[in-house]
Amino acid sequence: MKIFSVITLTLTSSLLVASPVSDEDAIAKGSTASAALLQKLGGEVKSNMQSNGPVKTLEFCALNALSLTDQVARETGTQIKRLSLKNRNPVNSAAGEDKELLEKWEKMVQNGRSLPSHEVKKQPNGTTVYYKPLLINNEACLKCHGDIAPDTPLAKAIKSTYPEDKAVGYKMGDLRGMVKVDIAK
Ligand code: HEC
Repeated sequence: MKIFSVITLTLTSSLLVASPVSDEDAIAKGSTASAALLQKLGGEVKSNMQSNGPVKTLEFCALNALSLTDQVARETGTQIKRLSLKNRNPVNSAAGEDKELLEKWEKMVQNGRSLPSHEVKKQPNGTTVYYKPLLINNEACLKCHGDIAPDTPLAKAIKSTYPEDKAVGYKMGDLRGMVKVDIAK
């Protein structure tokens, strides 16, 4: 009897392993997670900008963007990153396959082609990666990612918090980066 249940257990768990998340499930999970993240960060930035202005909001983002991202990831059972070729926060720098995909999208934008709403990649280890392009789609983004007037309190705050900042000089419609969601098998 004991042996029998061991066999059943082994069979059940190998069946589970053998049925990875379908592309459709991954797309649903990835789009839910990225939408929840954008809503959360966007809402926080908007209300902070209205009540406290750009310098305080910059501080808020510097302190909280990553933990809010992790919170949404936990709530949606995923892992989430925001990545960019011209990152502000050093931890959001794109590398490897992620960077290649951003470079491909960047070329598409420069050639006047519209970007897909998302792309999905299956990894050899069975996880699925969901990528969503992030555009500068709102004038409010330019307050902190556009042409920042030099020597203003905001320019100084950016310089002191992010000495290596690359995330300025954007225009409306530019590709700002991506949301990357890892969905376990
Ligand atoms: C009040 C200033 C401010 C505004 C407004 C703002 N951002 Fe940011 N943004 C930041 C800061 C600070 C960081 C770095 C901290 C972090 O989020 O990890 C950042 C980081 C990012 C990142 C992650 C990549 C990186 O460079 O580190 C993306 C993507 C991004 N912003 C997109 C946007 C978009 C799109 C908008 C408009 C909807 C926007 N931001 C509006 C301050 C701002």
